[in-house]
Amino acid sequence: MNSSEPVIRAVNLKKYFPVRGRIFDVIRRRPKLYVRAVDDITFDIYEREIFGLAGESGCGKTTTGKTILRLIEPTSGKLFFKGDDLLKYDGSKLKEFRRRAQIIFQDPYESLNPRMNIYSIVEEPLRIHKIGDKNERLEMVFKVLEDVELKPPENFIYRRPHELSGGQRQRVAIARAMILNPEFIVADEPVSMLDMSIRAEILNLMLKLRDEYKLTYLFITHDLAVAKYICSRLGIMYLGKLLELGSAEKVIDEPYHPYTRALISAIPTPDPREKIGEIPIKGEVTSPINVPKGCRFYPRCVRAMDICKEKEPKLMEVSKGHFVACHLYA
Ligand SMILES: Nc1ncnc2c1ncn2[C@@H]1O[C@H](COP(=O)(O)OP(=O)(O)OP(=O)(O)O)[C@@H](O)[C@H]1O
Ligand SMILES: [Mg+2]
Repeated sequence: MNSSEPVIRAVNLKKYFPVRGRIFDVIRRRPKLYVRAVDDITFDIYEREIFGLAGESGCGKTTTGKTILRLIEPTSGKLFFKGDDLLKYDGSKLKEFRRRAQIIFQDPYESLNPRMNIYSIVEEPLRIHKIGDKNERLEMVFKVLEDVELKPPENFIYRRPHELSGGQRQRVAIARAMILNPEFIVADEPVSMLDMSIRAEILNLMLKLRDEYKLTYLFITHDLAVAKYICSRLGIMYLGKLLELGSAEKVIDEPYHPYTRALISAIPTPDPREKIGEIPIKGEVTSPINVPKGCRFYPRCVRAMDICKEKEPKLMEVSKGHFVACHLYA
């Protein structure tokens, strides 16, 4: 692998889910409808970077994460893993990719089998991938539990998920992902179910693991404060599209897109007078089935112009490394 080659490259990625038509639409031969969950997005994730995706519920963050892990197949577009065509992987190559790329979910309670003890939960991926003998696996489980700071491990291995706190459960889910020594992790809202006080601990753990395991993350969150804390670069999604992309700091401190600005003005601050340049947002998210013709944010945008109704803006670089899809900056 070339060192400048991104770990993940997504090019014009699309995922459309068919909407089940009513029989009457079929008889009348109405055109098939699709939910455009991910609608033509292009991005790179570089080695050791924490690339964030943020946006309101339903904008396509999880679908993007699952598609780049080949957990769901894209409708179209290209995907590369360290320069290799990821969509061509099958058989042993795909199995090896399933070891090298892991996912951590929002709700550790749902992602951990309640009937298994912590030892079996963390060991299971090794058994599935036929890694190590019994003793080697024991050693690996103890080491990874220490790495996620469940210490001493013997205090945890015999317990079941319901006997742990929320933060401890998320540590188990992280250990289960880390035991395979992956290179790339999709973390899908990994702290949004946790108490404020535990969030920083888990975020700091993920930063520590990035350094120890030389990891690259796709970090999905709807919380921009979390994104600013942990992400190096950040993409803002709306109805399946990337509307803004740049360093997390710039996107949050100097946002261009009216949508990003609206999201930022929705972050609670201790002093409401601090909200400089606040931009409101109109109405509800438009349906991802009937996407407007021009800019898809147009119906909700307080800065909308005539052109926005007609022409979809392209993502363009407006300052170094900072991209925005908005006619205001064309
Ligand atoms: N398997 C599926 N079949 C049909 N539609 C789906 C499927 N999965 C997701 N969708 C739709 O695709 C769109 C994007 O969903 P997705 O879960 O990716 O959003 P999200 O940004 O992760 O939202 P949240 O913040 O609520 O997790 C939504 O409209 C959702 O209803
Ligand atoms: Mg989601």
